[in-house]
Amino acid sequence: MITLDTLTKRFGSLTAVDALSLAIEPGEVFGLLGPNGAGKSTTIAMTVGLLRPDSGTVSVGGGDPADAQVRALLGVAPQALAIYDELSARENIQFFGSLYGLSGKDRARRADELLELVGLTDRAADRVKGFSGGMKRRVNLACALVHDPKAVLLDEPTAGVDPQSRHAIFEIVRTLRDQGRTIVYTTHYMEEAQKLCARVGIIDKGRLLAMDTVDALIAQHGGQSVVRIERGETQERVQTAEPLAVLQKALAAGDATGVHVERPDLETVFLNLTGRSLRD
Ligand SMILES: Nc1ncnc2c1ncn2[C@@H]1O[C@H](COP(=O)(O)OP(=O)(O)O)[C@@H](O)[C@H]1O
Ligand SMILES: [Mg+2]
Repeated sequence: MITLDTLTKRFGSLTAVDALSLAIEPGEVFGLLGPNGAGKSTTIAMTVGLLRPDSGTVSVGGGDPADAQVRALLGVAPQALAIYDELSARENIQFFGSLYGLSGKDRARRADELLELVGLTDRAADRVKGFSGGMKRRVNLACALVHDPKAVLLDEPTAGVDPQSRHAIFEIVRTLRDQGRTIVYTTHYMEEAQKLCARVGIIDKGRLLAMDTVDALIAQHGGQSVVRIERGETQERVQTAEPLAVLQKALAAGDATGVHVERPDLETVFLNLTGRSLRD
């Protein structure tokens, strides 16, 4: 659905995106995971044709996103909110509908559907100005969907969002996936990538370090699990690739008063790949 081939973007002496290549399959939820400044937003901007790469190519459904018809396959919810504070939730959605040439009737119908999807039907007529961060994110998301795009690019869709709205956004992403849309989801939260994404690309300093399913990334780059076995006041830590076998042995011995398994996660993967933590 979306193919990036050795995409590169420089800002002066800084290489923000460095020969990035990846292929996103139709209908998959693909996560682009990396710390702040990794090059995620720059990659999204080039993918949707907002920013010209210095070199490399983007292909969307086999076409060039510089072409408006190809670009219409994509919906983007930018990290920097692209909505109008002075307009209501409904007016924002309808405004974006008009940009895509939807008729008045279609705009109204689509606004109803999208307000329902993002859970803002009862706030439709209220100005966005008074909305919480999470509600604004949801309006931003609805605006990205107004023209019924095949692929949706969500750039840090949970930035500045309270836990309840975060959960609502996860549910919306799952609904979009079930509708068969391709989703590109950028985040610096490894739990989000781990929860939502079928495949994840890990990006740092503009470079793609690894790309695979979450399980495969952890299996390949996560290293070993740690089993902690408590015996009264003392505690043993065992590093192992076979945590279940260690657990069974500890339990069979009969003297354990507590056991705990720490499995490697995407945070561990990032740490092992870069020597740094993903957390800010
Ligand atoms: N318009 C710009 N001019 C100069 N530097 C930029 C510009 N946009 C992004 N950058 C720099 O490029 C790098 C990647 O930024 P960005 O793509 O926004 O990363 P991310 O979205 O992963 O946080 C950062 O170092 C950022 O400061
Ligand atoms: Mg960004």
